Amino acid sequence: MLRKCLFPVAGYGTRFLPATKVMPKEMLPILDKPLVQYGIEEAAEAGLNQICFVTGQAKRAIEDHFDRNMELDDHLAGTERANTLLSLNELITGCQFTYTRQAEQLGLGHAIKVGESLIGNEPFGVVLPDDFCIGNDVGVMSQLKSIFQEHQCTVIAVEEVPMDRTASYGIIHGHQISSSLYEVEKLVEKPAPESAPSNIAVIGRYILSPEVFGELATINKGVGGEYQLTDAISNLAQNSRVLALKFDGCRFDCGSLAGFVAATNYSFRCRFGTAPP
Ligand code: UTP
Repeated sequence: MLRKCLFPVAGYGTRFLPATKVMPKEMLPILDKPLVQYGIEEAAEAGLNQICFVTGQAKRAIEDHFDRNMELDDHLAGTERANTLLSLNELITGCQFTYTRQAEQLGLGHAIKVGESLIGNEPFGVVLPDDFCIGNDVGVMSQLKSIFQEHQCTVIAVEEVPMDRTASYGIIHGHQISSSLYEVEKLVEKPAPESAPSNIAVIGRYILSPEVFGELATINKGVGGEYQLTDAISNLAQNSRVLALKFDGCRFDCGSLAGFVAATNYSFRCRFGTAPP
């Protein structure tokens, strides 16, 4: 049974400084909605409504965002803006939110391990909110869940990237078992193009079996001196099944300025049917 989704949001977001000095990167808005809210909507659509945050310093705005503000609700009641908080309030009522803190930013792998206290011994989703994903029919987490329900194993979302971009991603080594599914043999974090096993890159959506916590306990610091989730999933693939799904939709890396601007322009066109002026 899949009901929990982990949101590791403790990173410093240094690529967006000074904006992210006191404001979480995950609260940056695409149009009028923060990145993290899109991520939670995606998790909730997939039925994962127990939302577990691994937060850190300067991230308190996330907790406030997912709490009712009765004073503001009263202020808006009866005005033409009365509906603007409706969908957020529905999300707040429909999900349970729990928080823990990563005291030291030692990498994504470390953040997931810190989240173990919230997850326990059950499979769980992971969303990195700075990967802004738009699924074609259903969200990416729902797509991963379908594969999980069929195969009952770890499933990670992947996409093809240009070969000269492999050093920015975790890259899979595996074999294709259907048009959109790969059996993963190992993962390599940020390989140079000449040593990359493929150009199939891991993006920020996962369904992980709880065995990953055992693997996270044994890995050493990897690329960039950080504990890498990629290394733990690669070890997991030695002992149990790991599938990679080429998801149906598109994704923007909103951890980078270029990706953030592209996502904003794309969303503006989707909403208003025209490019921003
Ligand atoms: P990033 O690699 O984007 O790092 O983390 P970052 O710190 O957020 O941003 P930059 O590179 O300094 O600009 C990917 C995801 O992992 C989380 C981040 O919050 C983001 O969701 N993360 C990363 C943690 O929760 N803890 C960490 O120690 C590192």
